[in-house]
Amino acid sequence: MRTTSRLALTGIATVAALTLAACGGSSEGSESGDGKTMKLALNQNEEHPSFIALEAFGEELSEATDGRWDIEVHPNATLGAQDETIQLVSDGGVDLSIVSAPQLENLNDDFVVFSLPTVFDSVESQMSVINDQEVLGDVYSSLEESSNFSVIGGLTQGARSFYVEDGPIETPADMAGKKIRVQESPVFIAMIEALGASPTPMAYGEVYTGLQSGVIDGAENNEVSYFTQKHFEVAPFWSYSNHLVGADFLIANTGTLDSMSEEDRAAFDEAWQNAADNHTELWSEATESAIADAEAGGATFSEVDAASFTEALSPLIDQFVTTDSQKALLEAIKGATE
Ligand code: GCU
Repeated sequence: MRTTSRLALTGIATVAALTLAACGGSSEGSESGDGKTMKLALNQNEEHPSFIALEAFGEELSEATDGRWDIEVHPNATLGAQDETIQLVSDGGVDLSIVSAPQLENLNDDFVVFSLPTVFDSVESQMSVINDQEVLGDVYSSLEESSNFSVIGGLTQGARSFYVEDGPIETPADMAGKKIRVQESPVFIAMIEALGASPTPMAYGEVYTGLQSGVIDGAENNEVSYFTQKHFEVAPFWSYSNHLVGADFLIANTGTLDSMSEEDRAAFDEAWQNAADNHTELWSEATESAIADAEAGGATFSEVDAASFTEALSPLIDQFVTTDSQKALLEAIKGATE
């Protein structure tokens, strides 16, 4: 396992922290007796199942702790893009954030396992292990010392597929030379290269204008993001590559967690598990309506030649799972899900 040294606060994160402090709160959140209202950073909008499930998480937590602990969800990346909110959670300016697995890959390369094709073959199998630290070992606590936060657990991102501006993709050959937006991660970059396309790392919130202006020709995501971020308006050809089932993680500042009594921490963990279950239930319905709504808005959904994608992407496992701890994590996941 490789972990980086404690994160340095970036200029942007500093500005965000100062803005928070100036808005009345402090970077410590609003204190109330034993607990406080924790700020949770999210890059999705209010229609997204993550926002809905996380709002309910806060309500349940507040009820269970007689109002000592509460959560204020800040949607639409108003507290920053995910790489910035990781810095803020590390520093304590923000208590909680939802971040995509590839963002953590840069801090501990064991996290690559969660983003590789073929690791999870369905949302159900992914969710059966993603909140189970008995299966996953100590990967979620691995960043406590180096980065000052813990991973509490995961939410599904569903299966991710490609979408482009100019016609359906059937095989990787149809992607040749296309500029495809990826999350800022070596695995995603390698994945696009393996398909013969050209990867362009970019923050989630910039994808719409990237597509609109032609900086990128396409992107990959799940149907819910495709619809809620309105990407279908500018890249109407969705092709079901289903190349991987992605994961989001809830990360929490260590100091905030340590300041919870044992009882309140148990309430927090229980409310989180309920939020994750609730999110999984909301997910399939949200996916169905995202497809219908995007189709009504002019998008087309088509199948790909799945075998040609599998062939191009399967070498990634051997390329990226190289250390003993990565191999142990992969084996643990496979052992629990197959
Ligand atoms: C999904 C995921 C986000 C992530 C985004 C992306 O929507 O839930 O956490 O930021 O994909 O592609 O960047």
